[in-house]
Amino acid sequence: QLDSATLLALNDIHVFPELDSTNRWALQQGVCGDVCLAEQQSAGRGRRGRQWQSPSGVNVYLSVRWCFTPVPEHLPLLSLVTGLAVAEALEDCAIHGHGLKWPNDVYYDGKKLGGILLEAVGSLEQVVIGIGLNVNMLPEAGAEIDQPWTSLQQIAGKPVERNVLVSAVLQRLLKRLRGFSRLDMAQFQTDWQQRDVLLGRQVQALSGTEVLLGLASGINNQGQLIIEFNDGSIKNLSSADVSVRM
Ligand code: BTN
Repeated sequence: QLDSATLLALNDIHVFPELDSTNRWALQQGVCGDVCLAEQQSAGRGRRGRQWQSPSGVNVYLSVRWCFTPVPEHLPLLSLVTGLAVAEALEDCAIHGHGLKWPNDVYYDGKKLGGILLEAVGSLEQVVIGIGLNVNMLPEAGAEIDQPWTSLQQIAGKPVERNVLVSAVLQRLLKRLRGFSRLDMAQFQTDWQQRDVLLGRQVQALSGTEVLLGLASGINNQGQLIIEFNDGSIKNLSSADVSVRM
């Protein structure tokens, strides 16, 4: 089901019944353009060293190893661009109502639907882009998840075909990767802002031991979150430093 431009840009698609982590596989065994999928992960990795619950047969666990020559200056935007590709892929599958929570969580109705974890392979020329999407996971299967979450099946009221979703994600992601070095910044910011679930909301940002309370006011051209405070001052926050709550 993949279009020819996507197929040409990819090396191989590896599908496993079980892996510890598709990101780990892609980092250690993948080559440029490899896609790795697993039915389940025994040690799925989340951001900030967290575990990503990865029960069997219900969700999408996907990693793509991608190589840049030369490394684009705006590489730090790649994780936000990936979030955008995932949001667009859901729209291609006639799924609506979701949004992006900075830096790159896919959200629906205040609950997490998916996450993205980028890992660099030694030098920054190669990255592994990991995407986890809650597709047909029902409450019992995700009982151990320690934050509000939902799945596409819970939203749609019926199971969602994972293969269709994976090809939509690969198509959107590969399109954005192929065009990444020529990123149209203004268009990217508009596309992101349209799906930004934090925009115009009061948020709490934890930066080390500091707690910042302010109004989320979009992202700048470096992918940082812009926070406005009551006294009119503004701070730009990097995703490496802060976690944000609505
Ligand atoms: C997050 O914490 O929000 C990021 C979660 C990323 C999970 C995906 S599942 C596929 C890939 N392999 C992993 O081990 N993690 C990512």
